[in-house]
Amino acid sequence: MAEDSRQVASSAGAHIASKLSTESSSTNSANISENTSIGENTTIAENVSIGEFVVIGENSKIWINAQVRENAKIGARCIISKDVYIDHDVTIGNGCKIQNGVSVFYGVTIHDDVFIGPHVCFTNDKVPRAFSQEWQVTPTVVYRGASIGANATIICGITIGEYAMVAAGAVVTKDVAPFSLVIGNPACHMGYVDKTGNRVKAKPNV
Ligand SMILES: CC(C)(COP(=O)(O)OP(=O)(O)OC[C@H]1O[C@@H](n2cnc3c(N)ncnc32)[C@H](O)[C@@H]1OP(=O)(O)O)[C@@H](O)C(=O)NCCC(=O)NCCS
Repeated sequence: MAEDSRQVASSAGAHIASKLSTESSSTNSANISENTSIGENTTIAENVSIGEFVVIGENSKIWINAQVRENAKIGARCIISKDVYIDHDVTIGNGCKIQNGVSVFYGVTIHDDVFIGPHVCFTNDKVPRAFSQEWQVTPTVVYRGASIGANATIICGITIGEYAMVAAGAVVTKDVAPFSLVIGNPACHMGYVDKTGNRVKAKPNV
């Protein structure tokens, strides 16, 4: 992935990663709005769109086709993978890894060191109607160190506790306790994991 990219310093002190090509058209490069703050050594791939007043910390990587909407905040040392959508006003902590195809919608808050697997589906409208004029955002919080497996669906209004582990494909409908492993549809508590993600007999004392 990174092998075919080169880094070009931008005026913002960030680095724009663009494909090794002698022909670099405007449609092939990142579209970074004004009034953004992008930390040192952060790389931004081609075709990334970054809205106004976005803040991104240092040493992060934003991969191809990602869209980061206005007022979003992304911490340091994050990896925002291909085709990720970060909605307006969303906050993502330091050291997070968000895998391909994830949409983090308005109302979702991601704390530090969170792993979000490919195609995880967040929601922010508990009772969606296409014709509703007054839909309400229902917040969701993912706490430090939690991991969410590939293709899991997170129904809005819940919290995922510190270092919890959500299995691939789970449908999370209730709060997940810290260090809890949840599996299935609806996701059920199946045991505990430690900070490294290994199964343990009891909830770790921290
Ligand atoms: C949930 C998970 C952590 C469990 O791992 P584990 O403790 O090693 O579990 P095992 O493989 O020993 O499986 C234990 C049981 O749970 C079942 N199981 C495991 N993962 C499951 C899942 N995601 N959904 C439903 N059942 C699952 C297994 O079939 C097995 O059932 P059995 O006891 O009836 O045979 C792992 O399976 C998982 O989903 N990891 C997330 C992977 C991922 O999405 N990574 C993203 C980056 S690519």
